[in-house]
Amino acid sequence: MASSEEIQTLILTTLDAQGDIENTNSLKGSDGATIPYLAVVGVLNSLASKEMVAYTTIERDHFNLTAEGNEIADSGSHEAKVFNAVDSINGISIAELAKLLGPSAKIGQGKAFKNKWIKKDGDKLVRETESIVDQTQLDALEVRSTGTHSNPATLKDLQSRKHIEKVKLISYTVTKGPKFSLTIEKQATDLTAEMLADGSWKTQSFKKYNFAGNPPEGGHLHPLMKVREEFRKIFFELGFEEMPTNKFVESSFWNFDALFQPQQHPARDAHDTFFLLDPANATSFPDMEYLNRVKEVHSHGGYGSTGYGYDWKIEEAQKLILRTHTTSVSSNMLYRLAKETKANNGVFRPAKFFSIDRVYRNETVDATHLAEFHQVEGVIADKNLTLGDLIGFMEIFFEKMGVPNIKFKPAFNPYTEPSMEIFSWHPGLEKWVELGNSGMFRPEMLQAMGLDPDVRVIAWGLGLERPTMIKYDLNNIRELLGHKVELDMIQSNPACRLDKKMGRELVGKDAVDA
Ligand code: PHE
Repeated sequence: MASSEEIQTLILTTLDAQGDIENTNSLKGSDGATIPYLAVVGVLNSLASKEMVAYTTIERDHFNLTAEGNEIADSGSHEAKVFNAVDSINGISIAELAKLLGPSAKIGQGKAFKNKWIKKDGDKLVRETESIVDQTQLDALEVRSTGTHSNPATLKDLQSRKHIEKVKLISYTVTKGPKFSLTIEKQATDLTAEMLADGSWKTQSFKKYNFAGNPPEGGHLHPLMKVREEFRKIFFELGFEEMPTNKFVESSFWNFDALFQPQQHPARDAHDTFFLLDPANATSFPDMEYLNRVKEVHSHGGYGSTGYGYDWKIEEAQKLILRTHTTSVSSNMLYRLAKETKANNGVFRPAKFFSIDRVYRNETVDATHLAEFHQVEGVIADKNLTLGDLIGFMEIFFEKMGVPNIKFKPAFNPYTEPSMEIFSWHPGLEKWVELGNSGMFRPEMLQAMGLDPDVRVIAWGLGLERPTMIKYDLNNIRELLGHKVELDMIQSNPACRLDKKMGRELVGKDAVDA
């Protein structure tokens, strides 16, 4: 059989000589045999992908003789064999005929009688005519030489008598494509940095993408991630940088101590926080000076604070936990900002950070609570920010989410002062519902990190699950996360828009997990 290079050359040279190829079954390999259509189409597809040729498929029925059909074509039909075996003068006995012809004797007799070629004479068979035309043999021969029969009824008859069988013959009509050439240019699959650098991309021929076939089944964005995308857009629009949140296991230090949360705070105990058993302790810590400042401000105060007046212990700060809030990431980022300021000879860079990621709390799971959920968190650091800035910014942020007319209520957080819960009027429930929590980070936290006293940091947080459940009309959080999730719900839900009209719906009963 011809190799694909040979077939390729044959197709290209034939096209070059003839302009087109009407039917590829006229192509013969060097051995003179017709080239199998699968080999032809392989080469055609590769040439077509380079736009060197174009082709259409020709499909037609073809009839082959079966083993019995071939036997008939070669040595005549059963009935002809019977006729020929009957001696023109003496006839033949049935027993003798069977001995002579085997199974053909029985099969052929009936037809020979019907054709009035033979008749019975006593216990013998004798000829009834002098000569015969074996049409069955002629029909078989016609099919053998043409692949079909001129009479459709005969074709059907031959098929039902299993003398012939149908096969589909596939071949192709080929024409030159826009990039026809006798030689094949090597196509690049990727655009490389070198091509861009040396300009060769301008003339390089690239392999086309093949988008045919079934679209992939996987890859549907989870509703939580759709809503997350909307929040990200809002943050990016407002010029925020995304914080790296890929640290689910955190030291108690960044989650609590750096945030001026005392070590005997109830939230740290085993009811709210997941502690790690192995490894149980963090080994890497920020610089000792910072650690000592944190110890000092907790134990004795500083920066205008009296502190908590207890004996701060590194062992407690070392304990590894699953982070209980993304504020652990914010504290780490603010510490880096302080270090950056120092490295920059005290020149402070105002910063806007955000994060949206998972946090963990050792809570009883019910229809609205999971032991893990997502927080949306924003942080703005600049000189001389005030509570008015926080309020003003919250109004802009929630307005962008489609939640206008928010109200604030004084609250308490160990790490912010003042702290405010954010509420919005729910027209359906006809009451004010909590959306999130916010505040200005305490000087005990910021100045211990090394930030200047006039650097103020406003921050806020809210949950991602509640808005998502409201948006996608889910009543049970377990329909959103965990083993009860219907894959169909993920695949068929539309993209989310937190635009003004729909945003109102976001204001739901305990719309916040934060
Ligand atoms: N960390 C808080 C929580 O988990 C949210 C918050 C972030 C509050 C920033 C104030 C400032 O509820």
